Amino acid sequence: MEILRITGGRPLRGTLRVQGSKNAVLPILAATAAIPGPVTLTNCPPIRDAAVTCALLEGLGLKASARGSRLEIDGAGPVGSAPDPALAGRLRSSFLLLGALLARNGAAEMPLPGGCVLGARPLDLHLAGLERLGVRVCCEGGRILCRGRPTGGTVLLRCPSVGATENLILAALGASGSVRILGAAREPEIADLADFLNRCGASVRGAGSPCVTVTPAPLHGASHRVLPDRMEAATWLCAAAATGGELRLLELRPEQLRPVSEALRRAGCGIEEGETSLRLRAGPLRAPGLLRTGPYPAFPTDAQAPVMAALLRAEGCTRFEETVFEARFRHVPALRALGAEIETAGRLARVRGVKRLHGARIAATDLRGAAAMVIAALSAEGETTITQAWHLDRGYGRFIRRLRSLGAEAEEDG
Ligand code: EPZ
Repeated sequence: MEILRITGGRPLRGTLRVQGSKNAVLPILAATAAIPGPVTLTNCPPIRDAAVTCALLEGLGLKASARGSRLEIDGAGPVGSAPDPALAGRLRSSFLLLGALLARNGAAEMPLPGGCVLGARPLDLHLAGLERLGVRVCCEGGRILCRGRPTGGTVLLRCPSVGATENLILAALGASGSVRILGAAREPEIADLADFLNRCGASVRGAGSPCVTVTPAPLHGASHRVLPDRMEAATWLCAAAATGGELRLLELRPEQLRPVSEALRRAGCGIEEGETSLRLRAGPLRAPGLLRTGPYPAFPTDAQAPVMAALLRAEGCTRFEETVFEARFRHVPALRALGAEIETAGRLARVRGVKRLHGARIAATDLRGAAAMVIAALSAEGETTITQAWHLDRGYGRFIRRLRSLGAEAEEDG
């Protein structure tokens, strides 16, 4: 999807089943490079980043096939150690192949990853952790070369990096002894990765806590149902809140979304949680106070842009503090073009609610920024054209069809 045209002013209403999580399926797909047998993944989201990852796996010699939301991956045969640079450069999570290939082959030649531009996004925590475990790391010609199977030992992460935690767990699958990761990230997607690995015979304990221990064990194929996507759910809730609508979400884990649903409740929405469902009834919106992003279980950085978009017409001033990424307000100029009143200073943003927004022609900047632009366009008067809308395809499956199913007026070109 290159261009998305949205005519705003209609409340979104209906029911959606939440798709499988992008940020769970991507590390799990990377992990299959370490699994010497057939793997079946169900509830996979039909997103471009998953398709690119499957192409990376096939380039390494694994077999990958997709049927709807079911992915079959077989890594029984020999697996290469050098992912395709052109493909790897299209997403950040390609770097997770490093840990899996070290576990499988004791070697990896990693191209630099791509992904959303949210700041520097260094890789020092990944590499320092591997070196701590005895892996030899060097940079040569724009690639990162790693040699040697990890030894056992303890790694202390100076900040709870999701990717570094996942990469170290994957590398530890092939270590010569137990590996402890202290200061680990606690995101639910990491626990889902561990659940998958344990089904494959691994021994990963403590995932979802700051201390994860991986004990080497023989690995085999398995089946796994991917965790529901809490960020897709957050995006739809924000769209319903912004348009004065009503939405029921099914097949999710409401407790994983609570910092977002509580913010929307403080902003005036009615929120009802079921065991695996969540209903939102929009009300007149008011500023919910300071929203400070942080590592799980704090308010998630990936929800910052969608929630900001939902509150552009809320009464009062909403303040955001973005503590995770140093450049995650790239969506703000586009929201201003729609009439929003937003001031930013470094990691701080302040949104003053306006009575109305108007359509404009804007360009998407990154995945969640693009989602924010859609949400703002849905609550604006008139037509908005969003170019570079392909950002949405990376992380939201069947986006237009699902948007229209809720009553939105949306057309795509190209
Ligand atoms: C994961 O990215 C997610 N991506 C991101 O979601 C999410 O925003 C992020 O975690 C934080 O929750 C996937 O899971 C595929 P980090 P990741 O390493 O692993 C710094 C989306 O929209 N850092 O936890 O790259 C880093 O610069 C995407 O779905 C280092 O300093 O995030 C950042 O400031 C966007 N050195 C902070 O840690 C390192 O070696 C958190 O980054 C690694 C990270």
